[in-house]
Amino acid sequence: MNILVTGAAGFIGSNFTYYMLDRHPEDRIVALDALTYAGNLETLKEAFDNENFRFMKGDISDREAVYKLFDEERFDIVVNFAAETHVDRSIEDPALFLKTNVLGTQVLLDAARDHDVKRFHQIGTDEVYGDLPLDRPDLFFKEDMPLKASSPYSASKASADLITLAYHRTYGLPVTVSRCSNNYGPYQFPEKLIPLVIYRAENDETIPVYGTGENVRDWLYVMDHCRAVDMIMRDGRDGEIYNIGGHNERDNLTVVKTILKHLGKPESLITFVTDRKGHDKRYAIDPEKVGRELGWEPETDFDSGIAETIDWYIEHRDWWEHIVSGDYQNYYQKMYEGR
Ligand code: NAD
Ligand code: TYD
Repeated sequence: MNILVTGAAGFIGSNFTYYMLDRHPEDRIVALDALTYAGNLETLKEAFDNENFRFMKGDISDREAVYKLFDEERFDIVVNFAAETHVDRSIEDPALFLKTNVLGTQVLLDAARDHDVKRFHQIGTDEVYGDLPLDRPDLFFKEDMPLKASSPYSASKASADLITLAYHRTYGLPVTVSRCSNNYGPYQFPEKLIPLVIYRAENDETIPVYGTGENVRDWLYVMDHCRAVDMIMRDGRDGEIYNIGGHNERDNLTVVKTILKHLGKPESLITFVTDRKGHDKRYAIDPEKVGRELGWEPETDFDSGIAETIDWYIEHRDWWEHIVSGDYQNYYQKMYEGR
């Protein structure tokens, strides 16, 4: 099969590309990525050696470029990872999130429809459900819960899910949507909590924890996520949404302390900073549906996954140092100065 993977130079898209090239040598992967600040071609360097891989630099909201690629390639499956993804950036500049996440998805849907793609899989997020209260550990996100997005990022992702599902209902396009919890693992851009804590701790720099650090996230090892997407895009039912998560809830302070302990760094590096605007309290997925229908379950628990992940960042210091130098420093100043 010929598979388009958008956003393949980012965190999950690159892990998915490697997963597919490794597990499905019979398939061909075409990567489309605009190489925004979050896209890093260095991440894909080993994929370039594989004859089943092609990389194309391009913006998913550029209709002409997208149609040209679809005309050339005749894709069987499209998996759309491309997005603006950082909540804090969406609070600073929502417009780009709507352009890429909503209008870009619509361009891909149009192209998929006009080229008879057999399956369009949209990568969504659990953040579309809003948040759960901290004092109700019995509550979990289910696929049929109302959408209640809090941030411009999650609102743009909710819109993308809705337009994807509308193309199924209206035009009969074969689509699936998955909504996962917070991923962690190799190649995550070091603006997100886990890689940020690792690199700052490695450099003996302060670790900014928003508010009191009590907010809870449900951590999913990226390769477990990739396996779920592979199963859903092949065997999921048209027009269906699947939640992906593995009941690995941790509050942020616990995550930070776990990393510091593993690295042998002192907790005195922790600095509590002003809370994020509209900060969601708790995310927690109920993955019952994807387990029942497709037999997916997570293989990596948080304690072993986080240890492996920390070791990966230690062994791949060059990878994040190349990112942390340069523009990223200016971004860090802008986001954290005076906080
Ligand atoms: P990321 O920010 O690491 O990577 C995004 C990639 O998309 C980058 O390579 C970037 O260059 C590319 N991109 C951005 N705008 C583009 C455009 N207009 N055209 C083409 N490419 C463009 O993100 P990620 O963490 O890998 O997330 C991938 C997907 O998974 C996103 O849709 C995100 O909403 C979703 N998701 C992520 C998480 C998580 O924990 N990381 C959780 C839930 C859902
Ligand atoms: P993040 O990795 O940005 O993912 P998301 O906002 O999509 O959940 O943040 C994870 C959690 O960590 C979130 O509750 C915000 C918090 N956080 C901090 O406390 N400090 C930080 O520097 C960052 C980036 C996040």
